[in-house]
Amino acid sequence: MKREITFTLNDDIVSVYVESDEKLLDVLRYKLGIKSPKQGCGRGECGSCSVLLNGKSVRSCIIYAVEIDGQKIETLEGIQKNGITKLQRSFVEHNAFQCGFCASGVTITMTEFLRKNPYPKIAEIKEALSGNLCRCTGYKSIVDAIADATKEGE
Ligand code: FES
Ligand code: FES
Repeated sequence: MKREITFTLNDDIVSVYVESDEKLLDVLRYKLGIKSPKQGCGRGECGSCSVLLNGKSVRSCIIYAVEIDGQKIETLEGIQKNGITKLQRSFVEHNAFQCGFCASGVTITMTEFLRKNPYPKIAEIKEALSGNLCRCTGYKSIVDAIADATKEGE
C-alpha cells in the first residue's frame, strides 16, 4: 500500500509516495533522482549505499523508506552542493579511487567520522573505513587522502 512520506533531503523538504516495503535507496535513486548512493551488496554489508540519517551514516539498502518520514537525510549531492570539499579534493589529488563505485559511501562514512574527529590518527581512519568495501584500491590511497586532508593546521 502506498503512503506519502515527507522528510528533509539535503536541506529541501520533499514529499513522495512510497510502498510499505520500498527501500530508501530505491526511493532516492529512482523517485528522487539522487544517484550518489549505489546498490552494491543490497544486504547492508558493503557501504556503497551509505547516506546520513540525522547525521549518522546508515545503509540505505536496508532501511524502509517509511522509516524516514519526518527525518533528515544527507547525501553526497548535499555535502558537495557548494563545491567539492577539502576531503574530496584530497581524494582527487591522491587518485584515491579507481572505478569510483565505493567513493560516495566512503565519503559519507568519512563525513560523519570527521565531524566528530577532525584530526584522526591513521589507525582511527582505518577503523572508521572498515565497514566500506572497496574492490579496487587496497585502501592505501584512500587512507593517505584522508590523512592528508585532515592534517592539523591545514
Ligand atoms: S548496497 Fe547497501 S550496504 Fe551494500
Ligand atoms: S574504487 Fe572501485 S570499488 Fe572502490
